[in-house]
Amino acid sequence: MRHTDNISMQPSATMISVEHLEKSFPISYRISAWIKHRGAPPRRTVLHDICLSVRRGELFGLLGPNGAGKTTLLKVLATLAIPDRGAIVVDGIDAATDALGVKARIGLCTSEERSFYFRLSARENLTFFGAMVGLHGKPLERRIKEVVEVVDLEADLDRRFDGYSSGMRQRLTLARALLSDPEILFLDEPTRAVDPIHAESLRTLIKQELVQRRGKTVVLATNLLDEAWNLCDTVAVLRAGRIAAIGPPKSLDARFMGMRLLRYQITVDRIDDAIMARTRAIAGLARLDAAPCADGFVLDVEVEQSGPALTELLRAVSANGVTVRNLVSQEARPLEVFTDLTREQIHG
Ligand SMILES: Nc1ncnc2c1ncn2[C@@H]1O[C@H](COP(=O)(O)OP(=O)(O)OP(=O)(O)O)[C@@H](O)[C@H]1O
Ligand SMILES: [Mg+2]
Repeated sequence: MRHTDNISMQPSATMISVEHLEKSFPISYRISAWIKHRGAPPRRTVLHDICLSVRRGELFGLLGPNGAGKTTLLKVLATLAIPDRGAIVVDGIDAATDALGVKARIGLCTSEERSFYFRLSARENLTFFGAMVGLHGKPLERRIKEVVEVVDLEADLDRRFDGYSSGMRQRLTLARALLSDPEILFLDEPTRAVDPIHAESLRTLIKQELVQRRGKTVVLATNLLDEAWNLCDTVAVLRAGRIAAIGPPKSLDARFMGMRLLRYQITVDRIDDAIMARTRAIAGLARLDAAPCADGFVLDVEVEQSGPALTELLRAVSANGVTVRNLVSQEARPLEVFTDLTREQIHG
């Protein structure tokens, strides 16, 4: 076998590649205004120049507040909505020329429970949707058994859908997406309306069973910061239809928390105006207030995270014979990072 043949047999490490994707929707418009302007209805762009790449076997998070464009992006990736421009390649298949080929590789899981038949049992629903993806008879029965085992719904398979709780509905939605055993799963807010215990078991299922054990590639949309941060290998933060940041959660922490001021409360045995004046001159010290307390004084301090201001401050007070009794760090939490990332005015 030639060397090149060997290379061509290796599946590409990139499962999904998106380049310069844009999507707009017509703005609802009064007929009279239409007649006046005569042209096509005006449109509003909801996805701007989206570029991203999802690795094979990766758990990729789309994190953003309501209206950021997460569902729209998932629908475009799933070829349910046509983009205005840009390129999408899924497992080597160009979505623009072979949407069916893309559909055959993906399972889309939205929380649109209206797409189930309420009066039918879960088994009947899955039988119907299984037929839609070309499964029938014994193979379909076997497949239903397998997928309900994965989502732990075996005991409730013959209950009517309208008797299902929200969490069970979410799990059934996941089971439906798994029927065709797709390589790629698009999960739109899979833990929405699920209580914390079931939400955690769904996350474990997604990460351990689907991604780590079965090697699926998962793109998961969420507006829960902790979910994205703790679950995903890579997170793309969407803000008003644009990618505000993208990378492993840790790298986003470093990038955005580095810009923040960190706050500390330092208890010292004594302090005076002269020491305060000297320490206030330290570069990177944004705030220094002192208030008496039972143990002496509490210094309320804000420093730039990236610089040595805290170390210099501690050195300066010690050099003046002050004893530091306690230091409590009040670090920027991910929630604040999220607020920064999704705020309109963003630096970097
Ligand atoms: N079919 C549509 N027609 C017109 N505008 C739409 C349509 N679908 C979505 N939009 C608009 O696109 C923007 C992005 O919506 P989208 O549902 O993708 O956001 P999202 O991030 O999924 O929000 P949520 O967290 O609320 O689910 C919103 O401003 C929404 O109003
Ligand atoms: Mg949505």
